[in-house]
Amino acid sequence: DWTSAAFVETTIADIKATVGNDKVVLALSGGVDSSVAAVLLHKAIGTNLHCIFVDNGLLRKNEYESVLEQYKDFGLNIKGVDAKDKFLSQLAGVEDPEQKRKIIGRVFIEVFDEESHLIQDVKWLAQGTIYPDIIESVSVKGPSATIKSHHNVGGLPDFMKLKVVEPLKTLFKDEVRRVGTALGLESFILGRHPFPGPGLGIRIIGEVTAEKVAILQDADKIYIDNLKEAGLYDKVWQAGAIFLPVRSVGVMGDERTYENVIALRAVESLDGMTADWCHLPYPVLAKISNEIINKVKGINRVVYDISSKPPATIEWE
Ligand code: XMP
Repeated sequence: DWTSAAFVETTIADIKATVGNDKVVLALSGGVDSSVAAVLLHKAIGTNLHCIFVDNGLLRKNEYESVLEQYKDFGLNIKGVDAKDKFLSQLAGVEDPEQKRKIIGRVFIEVFDEESHLIQDVKWLAQGTIYPDIIESVSVKGPSATIKSHHNVGGLPDFMKLKVVEPLKTLFKDEVRRVGTALGLESFILGRHPFPGPGLGIRIIGEVTAEKVAILQDADKIYIDNLKEAGLYDKVWQAGAIFLPVRSVGVMGDERTYENVIALRAVESLDGMTADWCHLPYPVLAKISNEIINKVKGINRVVYDISSKPPATIEWE
């Protein structure tokens, strides 16, 4: 039967045997999977592990700075790369969700490739791929239709010529968290909600602009902070705000407003493959709505998503 301690022990031995004395590069996102993968690799190969953390401009508010700060004592050789402008300029004018995913995936690989070439003699690419990533990517891709292409699977370009090591690929999310606990990772890392690789890029419906990103970051922060304050963050599997490019009429004092809508999503799930919408308490929803409408310029209406997966997906794009 499976125990996290035994998994850690055998996986460290496996990594040592596979990778030997080679250097390994890993894309750190600050999320649970890449963090656990990084710490596991670090235990196995020490300073031969190099981590790259790319700011694609589509992260949560202050996420880039706080992740770099939180990880600075882990010894992971982390290099932060600010590539915000590159991503945003490539996304200009693009509305289609799959097109946006492809662009974000491609620019990510370009930036990552450039950075990893700065590290001498890297032979391996480590990825925090987990079992559901593989299953979803296979099962949703029929010959005729791709529901959503998850760019964290199979994203390796041929020209990188790196061998791949994926130490978590047999695990489900709850097992990854247990492994993280066994490795001594703290709950502020292990308890984080999943966050998609394309980030806020697929939580802004339609075209992504710097202005919309800033609005969504502010609304999302109010939402997440309130969930934490109400003691609900850890009870929810994943939550996030979505920017809708729909304008509706409102009143503010004596003035008529005509502004955008924020949708709130919160789901309960085991692995993201199916999900139920969370029955968040009305007083908490009321407070979040008031705060977003009063504080975030450009938003005059907040709605709550009461759809489960299937048939709705967790993300709106
Ligand atoms: P859906 O929307 O398919 O989401 O119900 C299921 C889980 O996958 C995440 N997700 C993504 N993760 N790249 C990722 O790395 C993507 O393109 C992507 N799309 C969805 C989503 O946040 C949820 O946890």
